[in-house]
Amino acid sequence: MKVGVPAEVKEGEHRVAITPDGVRELTTSRHRVLVEAGAGEDSAISDDEFAAAGASIVSVDEAWGADMVVKVKEPQPSEYGRLRPGLVLFTYLHLAAYPDVARQLLDSGVMALGYETVQLANGALPLLAPMSEVAGRMATQIGAHYLERDWGGRGVLLGGAPGVQPARVVVLGAGNAGWNAAWIAQGMQAEVVLLDKNLDRLRFADEIHQGRVLTQASNRGAIERAVADADLVIGAVLVPGGRAPVLVTDEMVHGMKRGAVIVDIAVDQGGCVETTHETTHADPTYVVHDVIHYAVGNIPASVPRTSTYALTNATLAYVAEVASLGVSEAVGRDAALAQGLNTCGGQVTNPAVAEALGVDYVEPVAAVEH
Ligand SMILES: NC(=O)c1ccc[n+]([C@@H]2O[C@H](COP(=O)([O-])OP(=O)(O)OC[C@H]3O[C@@H](n4cnc5c(N)ncnc54)[C@H](O)[C@@H]3O)[C@@H](O)[C@H]2O)c1
Repeated sequence: MKVGVPAEVKEGEHRVAITPDGVRELTTSRHRVLVEAGAGEDSAISDDEFAAAGASIVSVDEAWGADMVVKVKEPQPSEYGRLRPGLVLFTYLHLAAYPDVARQLLDSGVMALGYETVQLANGALPLLAPMSEVAGRMATQIGAHYLERDWGGRGVLLGGAPGVQPARVVVLGAGNAGWNAAWIAQGMQAEVVLLDKNLDRLRFADEIHQGRVLTQASNRGAIERAVADADLVIGAVLVPGGRAPVLVTDEMVHGMKRGAVIVDIAVDQGGCVETTHETTHADPTYVVHDVIHYAVGNIPASVPRTSTYALTNATLAYVAEVASLGVSEAVGRDAALAQGLNTCGGQVTNPAVAEALGVDYVEPVAAVEH
């Protein structure tokens, strides 16, 4: 199969969907890998490194002309014209938050696999996890930055000082993103409260942190009290494929401390704070009710070297599977990958995505065989 890897065009996006080692794996299995010239530059990977691993360095048109296009972010408006029937697209899609992208994929008949909905039998999301880990770790350092007075915050140091109370960090969701955010926050000596409705996740966090992170069962009352007391709120909840539940209402934001900070990582699924709207790396924050909101949809893009390697470590095996078997057979054999198929031949093939978009769901194996 010809596998194309175009350069990313989303604002502030610096990752690339493959590494030289990934190219080597695919070319060893006799696939051709077409990498757009300069695609790895921002991740400190040169065209020469890709070429030495066996890639052909090509134009953007040639990269998009491949049988399967592997990307990092959902197609942008400038890329919509490149979508065509039968194209296999494997990338983050987040269609619940981007209905326009869903419409384009459906109208063009693309077979689109979304990294974020590939799901193992135990519920784990192996292709979302690495970027959630990065985004979670970054959310804490971003929050610490905006709490500084010069950046509009209330001038609180996350770790406080001897004799002075540290910042209170409230993390909503104890999954991959939330747990990593809490981990870094406690490492910076903040006071951390981690909420989730899944008590097993809280049990796991409690065992590891042994009281240094306060865990709380998530419900409206607990969230209301925690948020009112917070210097930094990090939103990290997820219903796989679906829109994020809104846990922090406009009224709760109104009740927060002046100069407090919200980092809503879940913005790529619509956000879990009522006052959230997506922002960009170029203009990452805005203020509502005197609270700074940071809601960038591609946070890991600002550490592209780390993120590119973390992402491709997880995606490569699935990319290789689809390249070797084709979508039809791969989806038939691998139930996790079948969950990843979001659209096929103009139909939505993931139940949560279909529900979020308000359209009919078609079983993926039936859709690919059609
Ligand atoms: N903005 C970015 O750049 C970026 C990067 C990576 C991931 N993300 C997003 O971060 C979010 C979290 O991803 P993740 O991998 O940590 O997911 P995850 O599935 O590992 O964790 C989500 C957690 O949310 C909890 N949850 C769900 N509904 C809840 C509710 N009503 N109350 C309390 N907890 C609830 C779940 O029990 C789960 O533990 C997703 O929206 C993901 O797309 C964003």
